Amino acid sequence: MLELSGVSASYGSVPAIHDVSITIGEGEAVGLLGANGAGKSTTLRAISSLVKMTSGRIRFAGVDLSTLPPHRIPELGIAHVPEGRQVFPEMTVQENLEIGSYVPRAKAERRRTLELVYGIFPRLADRKKQLAGTMSGGEQQMLAVGRGLMLKPRLLMLDEPSLGLAPVMTDVTFEKIGEIHKMGTAILLVEQNVSRALSLVQRAYVLESGNVIMHGTSAELANNKQVQAAYLGI
Ligand SMILES: Nc1ncnc2c1ncn2[C@@H]1O[C@H](COP(=O)(O)OP(=O)(O)OP(=O)(O)O)[C@@H](O)[C@H]1O
Ligand SMILES: [Mg+2]
Repeated sequence: MLELSGVSASYGSVPAIHDVSITIGEGEAVGLLGANGAGKSTTLRAISSLVKMTSGRIRFAGVDLSTLPPHRIPELGIAHVPEGRQVFPEMTVQENLEIGSYVPRAKAERRRTLELVYGIFPRLADRKKQLAGTMSGGEQQMLAVGRGLMLKPRLLMLDEPSLGLAPVMTDVTFEKIGEIHKMGTAILLVEQNVSRALSLVQRAYVLESGNVIMHGTSAELANNKQVQAAYLGI
């Protein structure tokens, strides 16, 4: 469904990712792992057309994304939940969610999707009218994921959803992502919590200094000595 082939991207003259090739099948959950600065967020930004590619090609459901402007990407059914819970603090929880369904294909079903999101995240339903900026960090993270779901995405890209969360909240977050995946949504998950990520996804890619240095099934990576030493503390 999604295919990156030989994608490179840079910020000005600073190269960030180099020759990255990744595929995600319909309804598949795939991990993108790697240390700080490895290029994980840049890869998601390249898919969302937020950073200009210097070479390579990205295709989604038969459409070439390489030349599309950023606003066209969500219209195709790709939701990107960026790093650091970027909710609109002065708007209510429900207003934040409604913004997530601004594209025509999602707007028509806004009511029904809202009920679905509230079903997955009952905490958000309890706090519909609360200003997003006054929600706790974990609640804001749920809201950010919920807003992504409001798009009715075929592919949900999550950039470090567990960052800064307490262990209990991390558990809840992973459980919810698992539920969303079981509903049939494909997931591209960026995580530093590698052991948790590998228990959720079917396959993963490991980025190092902007290059994919390894990829395989979750079991293959979890048993790989290099992965164990670098990311699993074994
Ligand atoms: N806006 C920017 N301007 C210039 N360089 C950037 C910018 N954003 C990222 N970079 C650089 O690109 C490289 C990849 O960054 P990226 O944010 O993709 O890493 P990451 O794997 O998401 O890291 P982290 O785990 O810390 O979020 C890094 O060297 C980073 O310094
Ligand atoms: Mg990042």
